[in-house]
Amino acid sequence: MTLYQRDERTLSKLQKLRFFPLAVTGGNGSYLTNEDGRRLLDFSASWGAVSLGHGHTAIREAIDRALAKQAGASTLSAANEPAVRLGEALLERTPGGGDRRVWLGHSGSDANETVARAVVAATGRPRIISFAGAYHGGTAGSMAISAHGVQKHAERASGLHVIPYPDPYRPYGDDPTGGRIVAELEIAFREECPPDQVAALFIEPIMSDGGLIVPPAGFMKRLTDLCRSHGILIVSDEVKVGMGRSGRFNCIEHEEVQPDFYVLGKGLGGGLPLSAVIGPTRVMDFATSFSMQTLHGNAVCASAGLAVLEAIESEDLMKNAAKVGAELQLGLRGLAQRHELIGDVRGRGLAVGVELVTERRSRAPAAKQTAKLVYRAFELGLVLYYVGASSNVLEMTPPLNLTAGEAAEAVSILDRALTDVGEGRIPDDIAAGFEGW
Ligand SMILES: Cc1ncc(COP(=O)(O)O)c(C=O)c1O
Repeated sequence: MTLYQRDERTLSKLQKLRFFPLAVTGGNGSYLTNEDGRRLLDFSASWGAVSLGHGHTAIREAIDRALAKQAGASTLSAANEPAVRLGEALLERTPGGGDRRVWLGHSGSDANETVARAVVAATGRPRIISFAGAYHGGTAGSMAISAHGVQKHAERASGLHVIPYPDPYRPYGDDPTGGRIVAELEIAFREECPPDQVAALFIEPIMSDGGLIVPPAGFMKRLTDLCRSHGILIVSDEVKVGMGRSGRFNCIEHEEVQPDFYVLGKGLGGGLPLSAVIGPTRVMDFATSFSMQTLHGNAVCASAGLAVLEAIESEDLMKNAAKVGAELQLGLRGLAQRHELIGDVRGRGLAVGVELVTERRSRAPAAKQTAKLVYRAFELGLVLYYVGASSNVLEMTPPLNLTAGEAAEAVSILDRALTDVGEGRIPDDIAAGFEGW
């Protein structure tokens, strides 16, 4: 029996989001090894978590050092050096005024849940605003403030107010600036959603699982200015697109917006479970024992986080993400000239999306073709998944040290996969049994 078959017989579907039968036996840099011995170029990096690539020496050494003199396993009832140093380093890398504190967790989900609960409890304002399509996590409290289609079963927070995300490729209300969305929120503030009831606005500076959408210039500033004028706190969910991936340390730095809270995860741990919230002390210290799990502030994970931060600087990874990401987009635009399926190419740095459509004029989402394409790419040696409200956007979040050569290799594999799908050579049922999302 193969590893994949044993996985199917043993591990629950509740935590699976599968696109093809990938069964990983190892990894090195930007490559994974599949159980059949094939080397696959990893353009997902486990949804952006393996930010330095697989088996990076700095992380291995940091973990080894931390375990050799294991400083407990938690920050709940004792301070430890790596957790405190990580907090200090994150305060330095997240612009903000006033007195601030850092909270350390395991995942984007527990971090967003913590902020969502804390802002409501600390301000006494019961409501939260978030975007349609937003994915802030998979725990009850983070799902409660999300609005992603995959979570149809989830219970939303009773005071959640959901607004559209401005998608330049599919403008809301025919307004590519997103101005209509801000205008409608102003109306909602006068009617069903009094702003003095709203604790926070949760932003994804690039909408990630909702379709890798880059908002139009100036939109986030207008939206956050409006919210701030009513005393609403601004939370930037940087879980997927922060940590240098966009070419800047925090993705919100591309806008003229300084949020109150930064939420970090995924790439922060370089593949280990680690997340962080950085925010104002009046919320972050408003109570004790309010959001804690035994292994929060784990010294081994915090050491991995410090190694990631150091590598981002010593290896100039923000610059690399910007440069190789631009080359990748150029290559993908080249493909768009030859493959009708490609409707739009967008992104920042090494967060890149390719939206597939059945016809460019109508922009009808090509969901079936997208599922076939990622399957075919897997057969040809490239790992990438898709996202979006209509399941038709290829998402690329490779390691931040991706080389130009590796980017070119991915473009060339996609070229072949697009040809195979476009010419109808891939059976319709190839991805049967892989539901994706
Ligand atoms: C923007 C964003 N926030 C939060 C999360 C949740 O992170 P995690 O799955 O690590 O809990 C995700 C995961 O995809 C995400 O993309």
